[in-house]
Amino acid sequence: MTIAIQSDIPLKPYNTFGMAVTARHFCELRTLAQLPALLQSEAFRTGPVLWLGGGSNLLLTRDYPGLVVKVSLSGVHLLAEDADSVLVEAAAGENWHDFVRYSLTQGWFGLENLSLIPGTVGACPVQNIGAYGVEVKDLIDSVVCARLDADGEALTLGNADCRFAYRDSVFKHEAAGKLLVTAVRFRLGRRPHLKTAYGDIAGQLEKMGVNEPGPLDVSEAVIAIRRSKLPDPAQLGNAGSFFKNPIIDADQAERLLARFPALPHYPAGEGRVKLAAGWLIDQAGLKGYRDGDAAVHDRQALVLVNHGSASGDDMRRLAEKVIATVRERYGVELEPEPLVL
Ligand code: EPU
Repeated sequence: MTIAIQSDIPLKPYNTFGMAVTARHFCELRTLAQLPALLQSEAFRTGPVLWLGGGSNLLLTRDYPGLVVKVSLSGVHLLAEDADSVLVEAAAGENWHDFVRYSLTQGWFGLENLSLIPGTVGACPVQNIGAYGVEVKDLIDSVVCARLDADGEALTLGNADCRFAYRDSVFKHEAAGKLLVTAVRFRLGRRPHLKTAYGDIAGQLEKMGVNEPGPLDVSEAVIAIRRSKLPDPAQLGNAGSFFKNPIIDADQAERLLARFPALPHYPAGEGRVKLAAGWLIDQAGLKGYRDGDAAVHDRQALVLVNHGSASGDDMRRLAEKVIATVRERYGVELEPEPLVL
C-alpha cells in the first residue's frame, strides 16, 4: 500500500498552541498497512521525523525541517472479558476523551478521572497522562508498538516494560525514535472503584446535586472542573500544563515549607517531595502575566496560553521568564512538560 507524502504543509491545524509553522514533509498514517511504504520513503529515511498525535503536548518554535507523520490509526476492540474486568484495545489515533466516554458508556470503568484530557490514545502512555489522583499507567495492560528499525514489526510492551513514572516512560527515552505506539491495551473494571478524594471532585458532585455518584457522574464532575480552570485549546492556544510539578529532596522541601507554609506538596517516594508548580508561579505574582500575545493563564498558572499571534519564540521567552523567576524566589528548577521543538 502507498502513502501520500506532501511538502510544505501548514501545521497550525495540527498543534493546540496554534503555532503557524510548516512541515517540510507531511503525511497521515491511517492504517498499519501503510507503514512499510512510509518507512521506505525518502522523506522518512532522510529525517528528522516527528510523530504527531493530537499535537496537544508540543510547542513548535520553527518550521519543521523533516517529516511530520500524523498518526490517525483508528479502532476500538474488546479483546477479552471476565466477571470483573475487560481488556480493551484502542488504536493510537483515537481521540482520548472520546475513548474515555465510550468506555464509560460500555460499563468499562477506571478512566473517568482522565476525562477531557486533550490528545490521542497513542500519546497517553508516552507521558503517562494523569489527573485527579489517577495516572493512565494504573489502567494500562500493555502497549502495542511498531519497530521503526525493523520494517514496522510488531512488539508489545507489558506495563512494567514501559517504565512509567510521573509524566514519563520508556517512550521518552530508550524507545524514542525506535518504537511507534500503534495501540494501547487497557484493563478496565466492570465494577466502579471511584476516586473522588482528589481536588474538588467531591465538592463538584455535591454542587451537581449527585448523592450516589457513578463513574459517568465523576466524569461529568472532572469535565466541569477542567472547563472552569483550563482553557479550551479550540478557543485559546495552549498545551495544558506547561511545566511539570517539580520533585525535590525532602530536606530542601522542609526548608522551603518553613518559608512558605502554604505551599502545596505531596510525598513522591524515598525522601522526595512533589511541589505544586502552579502555586509557585501564582505566588511569584505571574498568574495572568502577559507579554504581547504570550501569557500565563489567569485561572491556572501552570498553563501558558497564546492569545492569538504569539510565536514559538515568544512562548519560549515567557517560559524562560517563569523558570528564572521561580528559580530566584524559591531555588526550584521548573522543567517544561511539552516537547519544545
Ligand atoms: N495552584 C495555585 N495557583 C494556580 C494553580 C494551582 O495556587 O494558579 C495550587 C492549587 O490551589 C492546588 C495546587 O496548586 O493546591 C495544585 O493545583 P491543581 O490541583 O490544579 O493541579 P496542578 O498540580 O496544577 C496537575 C496536572 C494537571 C492535572 C491536575 C489535576 C501536572 C503538570 N499537571 O496540575 O495536568 O489536570 O493536576 O489533577 O502534573 C497537564 O498535564 O497538562 C495537566 C493539565
